Amino acid sequence: MTTTYLVTGGAGFIGSNFVLGLLQNRKRDIRVVNLDKLTYAGNLANLGALEGDERHIFVQADICDREVVAALFERWQPRYVVNFAAESHVDRSIEDPDVFVRTNVGGTVTLLQAAKQAWEQPAEPLGYRPGVRFLQVSTDEVYGSLGAEGFFTEDTPLDPHSPYSASKAAADLLAQAFFDTYRLPVNITRCSNNYGPFQFPEKLIPLMLNNALQHQPLPVYGDGLQVRDWLYVEDHCRAIELVLEHGVAGEVYNIGGHNERTNLQIVQAILAYVAKNVDKVVDDGLITHVTDRKGHDRRYGIDPRKIGEALGWQPQTAFEQGIVRTLDWYLAHQDWLADVTSGAYLSYYQKIYGDR
Ligand SMILES: NC(=O)c1ccc[n+]([C@@H]2O[C@H](COP(=O)([O-])OP(=O)(O)OC[C@H]3O[C@@H](n4cnc5c(N)ncnc54)[C@H](O)[C@@H]3O)[C@@H](O)[C@H]2O)c1
Repeated sequence: MTTTYLVTGGAGFIGSNFVLGLLQNRKRDIRVVNLDKLTYAGNLANLGALEGDERHIFVQADICDREVVAALFERWQPRYVVNFAAESHVDRSIEDPDVFVRTNVGGTVTLLQAAKQAWEQPAEPLGYRPGVRFLQVSTDEVYGSLGAEGFFTEDTPLDPHSPYSASKAAADLLAQAFFDTYRLPVNITRCSNNYGPFQFPEKLIPLMLNNALQHQPLPVYGDGLQVRDWLYVEDHCRAIELVLEHGVAGEVYNIGGHNERTNLQIVQAILAYVAKNVDKVVDDGLITHVTDRKGHDRRYGIDPRKIGEALGWQPQTAFEQGIVRTLDWYLAHQDWLADVTSGAYLSYYQKIYGDR
């Protein structure tokens, strides 16, 4: 029997990698209903390889739209829901928090409610259709900031600082509440910074690469010594599949790459790559320190032991390998980069970095 996945935000960065991975690598009989509003961050070109593939059903709609969401549950009877759809950029949340609350909180509760209604089967021992699972994709940012030592575990108290992370934490609490109150089979995954193909070039790696290729200044927030734990997107997608199929309902799983780097180290790695492979004149002189982001968290570090011990997941991509694979991909897809960096993106870029 065909297993149906309802994936939201599947035209964004991680979502499109997830959908492509499912449909291109998996042998089982599956179907993906991809619900995406196509905001500035959604790009159907990411899914070009699936053109003509009837197992991929794309629906342009808002996760806040109750009627559309309920109709999709009714029509496709998904077994799995993976909620990637979100406003995802911290800088934008500082400029305009409202849309973050609307999509990240309101949209999540709309999906949870629809799943509960569609999956409820009082005659079943657990009260729901057997085997169903709702996975809320969250972030390590909900835990706040670390000092030089220590790691986030699943028991670290939530302490979000930006409107983005606060909205994600609120969504996590709602997902948890649907498990605690209604026993809806929910999991929450909290991952660190993802990198890989198809990332919108407002995020660090494609932004800096794009600027370096164009000999534009590379704007680094503050001293650039903020530490993030980098997770190759395919490793993340594999972890999500494992949690969907084998995770214990109601549990949170942290997903991290064991790849802590300062932002400055990332930028220097990109410049070194461009100098070696593309353009010898590019060097660290392009780095421009700009006023730090408001409330900028200093360090994130994930302890992924739980998912390792419980589900046998380990990140397989060392940063040195993943960054080269990622940069190679952007170089080979400069048409993709050029398309995305035109139009609306440029006016947004001007607003954030223009007067610094
Ligand atoms: N990128 C990271 O490093 C990272 C790290 C931790 C957690 N996350 C989480 O992973 C998820 C995916 O992140 P991403 O980087 O792929 O994001 P993204 O911004 O690249 O993609 C988000 C997608 O959601 C869609 N979307 C936005 N609002 C919507 C709405 N109201 N209805 C339907 N679709 C909507 C967009 O069109 C886009 O396709 C997010 O929930 C994010 O919070 C991302």
